[in-house]
Amino acid sequence: MELVHLRVRDFRNLASVDIAPGPRFNVISGHNGQGKTNLVEAVYVLGSVKTFRTQKNRELIRWDADRAVLEGLAHRGDDERLARIEVCGDRKEVYLGDLSVQRLADFFGTLNVVVFTPDDLSLVKGSPSERRRFLDRAIFNLRATYAGDAVGYDKILKQRNAMLKGERVDAVLLDVYDEQLALSGGRVASARHRFVEQFSARFAAAFGEIFGGLSATVTYESPWWDRSALPETPESAPRAGRILDRDDALVSSAQDALRAALARRRQEDMRRGQTSTGPHRDDLRVELESRSARTFASQGQQRALVLAMKIAEVEFFESERGFRPILLLDDVSSELDRARNRFLFDYLRAHDGQVFITTTHRDHILLEEDVVAYEVEAGNVRQVE
Ligand SMILES: Nc1ncnc2c1ncn2[C@@H]1O[C@H](COP(=O)(O)OP(=O)(O)OP(=O)(O)O)[C@@H](O)[C@H]1O
Ligand SMILES: [Mg+2]
Repeated sequence: MELVHLRVRDFRNLASVDIAPGPRFNVISGHNGQGKTNLVEAVYVLGSVKTFRTQKNRELIRWDADRAVLEGLAHRGDDERLARIEVCGDRKEVYLGDLSVQRLADFFGTLNVVVFTPDDLSLVKGSPSERRRFLDRAIFNLRATYAGDAVGYDKILKQRNAMLKGERVDAVLLDVYDEQLALSGGRVASARHRFVEQFSARFAAAFGEIFGGLSATVTYESPWWDRSALPETPESAPRAGRILDRDDALVSSAQDALRAALARRRQEDMRRGQTSTGPHRDDLRVELESRSARTFASQGQQRALVLAMKIAEVEFFESERGFRPILLLDDVSSELDRARNRFLFDYLRAHDGQVFITTTHRDHILLEEDVVAYEVEAGNVRQVE
């Protein structure tokens, strides 16, 4: 997948940008506060509709303007699609070509992007909810119907919690909630389990390439679901399209486990006024040399771990979908030492795909060939070299 043209109007400090990005490396240089991250964010919003930086639409619109416009022409093989997003007030209007998109599901997949930003350090350091969000978004990118299960689960969870907190608990209604939670939660957890199972080998390999010598692992932690008796998927030859498959035995195993856990914990949940177990409490455990990376990994190691997670996400996506998403690397070289930085660029050169990469120091970017270089200054973007 490739972004061949990008047009930006009044998005953050970018008043007017028209660029034709190259198919491989697009290097965006500039001093602090000039608009590099804003440019990467513009590409991300075009792909995801949401941003990775704020919840507030209004912040995306340039201060003196009342509407921001993003337009991107995406190529995938022979397929060409024009995506346009207009941000006005608290709303976003989404278009494909000239058609207004009413269901976002019809839009997703127009521009597939994976972003790495300095804030992503929270993937290792932050709370489990950040890692669950990573999992959910990665799975959603592969299988859009996953969103229905995840949203459905959250909705019932809220209702169940509201009842547990309230004056009176209706046991019959609680039974209904528990059954619905078990059904949707089982689908959520089994998709996450399957994803992590396949993802972990790619993650370990990507980390090994950047941080040769050290081993890293990720595992899906769901204390309510004993998965020791499940047959393991053979590690060699992971079959393409696997995560897209429904695996009924796996789903029922998770549903049965969740049903039992909810029943077991019911008294305690009533006492505490909340649902104490289930996929909403699960975690993705990241380990470095068999120890919790959250507690023991250094800052640079944590950065490399997150980077490896993003790279693994790209590769996993490619193996499932047959093409590579666009990789957005914001300020990736800061905090990597020289050797790590070299490994990273060796890696990027050795793998296909379009990459956008920002930097304050062009010489950190160890790329000579297939580069289109841009300078950003006070919101103006111009191609250089
Ligand atoms: N809605 C907005 N309207 C106008 N300017 C904005 C808006 N939102 C953010 N900015 C400005 O955009 C500027 C540049 O932001 P950006 O984060 O892209 O910088 P950067 O080039 O990535 O810098 P750094 O190297 O420090 O990461 C900031 O000075 C910020 O004040
Ligand atoms: Mg920045």
